[in-house]
Amino acid sequence: MAFAIKPLDIPENGADVAHLNPVHSTSLLTSLGNKYPFLLNFVGQHTWAAEWLRGEGHTARMNLTHRYKFGKLSVFQINIVADQNGPGHVRLRLETGFGPVLISQSVTPIGVLQQRVVHRIYSPWYNAVIAAAFVPGESYMFERDMAIWNSKRYTSSPAYVKTDKSIRAFRAWYSQFYSEKSVSFKDATQNPLDW
Ligand SMILES: [Fe+2]
Repeated sequence: MAFAIKPLDIPENGADVAHLNPVHSTSLLTSLGNKYPFLLNFVGQHTWAAEWLRGEGHTARMNLTHRYKFGKLSVFQINIVADQNGPGHVRLRLETGFGPVLISQSVTPIGVLQQRVVHRIYSPWYNAVIAAAFVPGESYMFERDMAIWNSKRYTSSPAYVKTDKSIRAFRAWYSQFYSEKSVSFKDATQNPLDW
């Protein structure tokens, strides 16, 4: 799937705590629960709780809890600590109950509104089956975000609602990575050859 976004959009996804349940709750096993909500007790869905915290200097942290739920029955809890190091790298440490998994994510701008995103997944050998399941799982979840990024529009003075509190804090934190010489969104999109 093709998509055109700014480097900021990808790590901002972590600070956009309010999008997690609306976008990422549909089961990776089947989307039947969306069509027939009464089936959610049988097919289950992902639920998320998260907080984004500004760290020292170029760092930030997101604490995330994932639960796979059949109604009120929670079966697969994953506790995640995601450390953001600068604008282009995130390291997620997952405690899955079967063992640890480490996911390394990098974002490298390669052109106007073009990012190269690389996710690498590591685990001890005894947890390799769970870690391998994260490869398609991560990419399906990422595609859900891409569908939103594809229709995102730039607004110079966006209005924030209460649940956007952490997005606002994220953007204030991210502003340290721009300099006086940073090309503006307008110049980058109007003169793409000068980028
Ligand atoms: Fe997302």
